[in-house]
Amino acid sequence: MRNISPWWVRVPLIFFLIFGLMEYFIDSGDKPAFIAYPIALLFMLMVLFILVAIELILNSVENIMFQTLSPEAQKRYLEAKFKQWEWKWGKAYWKKITGNRPVGEEQEIILDHNYDGIRELDNNLPPWWVYMFYATIIFGVVYLARFHVFNDYTQDMEYDREVAEAQIAIEAYKKTAKGLVDANTVELLTDASDIKAGGAIYSANCVACHMPDGGGGIGPNLTDEYWILGGGIKNVFQTISEGGRNGKGMIAWKQTLKPAEIAQVASYILSEIHGKAPANPKAAEGEIWTGE
Ligand code: HEC
Repeated sequence: MRNISPWWVRVPLIFFLIFGLMEYFIDSGDKPAFIAYPIALLFMLMVLFILVAIELILNSVENIMFQTLSPEAQKRYLEAKFKQWEWKWGKAYWKKITGNRPVGEEQEIILDHNYDGIRELDNNLPPWWVYMFYATIIFGVVYLARFHVFNDYTQDMEYDREVAEAQIAIEAYKKTAKGLVDANTVELLTDASDIKAGGAIYSANCVACHMPDGGGGIGPNLTDEYWILGGGIKNVFQTISEGGRNGKGMIAWKQTLKPAEIAQVASYILSEIHGKAPANPKAAEGEIWTGE
């Protein structure tokens, strides 16, 4: 049996491979899986145990096979096995990129001047350095031609373009991430689809206390100019999200509704209910709201 790698490479490699796969496939939120689920830790311990067991079994099988070999075969086997596990290509590659001459060849490259016993080796420049130097020259020529001869674009143009791109990205992000809104950033929504969604939320959750036309019942009249907790999109959002005054019956809807949905229902109230004439208006409560 020929070993490709020693056990101290094999066991940790397989162990961390399985560990990585486990972390990748188990969705454990922002905590690592082995902390979120103690059972995963147990699983990894089992894996380690099994890996060690396999190594032990392989080792004893090897041992038994070894005993059955003839003496010469045993010798050949040992030679093959203890032949150093080397990074052959790694060493060759290293030598190539550093261009080092072996110590034994130093006589050939030593220069014959001698200052207080210090002498100079006339080594080649290391190829890695030389190639990088060539690369910078090519880069410099291309850069000079592109920006100083053909004036491709200036830094100002580059800046403006990136700002414009970022602006587009921000708009796109805001469109998909409506959940980001809070009472400080919310704006009155005007899209018909948002208003319609707000209407559906209103019918499902709010009509019992505020009436379908907003005239009021247990809750105050939402159609008039008077607001107990302040009018305008930001205050209305705040009220719906955090609820009314204690014991009045208006709960904090942030438990049930997402921020985007609160923005929709708040916009629905302000654009479709507010300012209309309800069938049975409840007497005004609160104060006239004159603006943000
Ligand atoms: C259980 C009854 C009840 C339900 C259901 C209810 N509300 Fe209210 N709502 C109230 C009461 C009572 C108040 C007054 C709170 C206060 O005085 O602090 C109120 C106040 C409000 C106000 C502020 C009015 C003002 O004058 O400042 C808004 C806006 C509002 N509700 C919107 C909603 C929305 C939107 C829903 C549905 C998601 C909803 N309410 C569901 C009872 C309710």
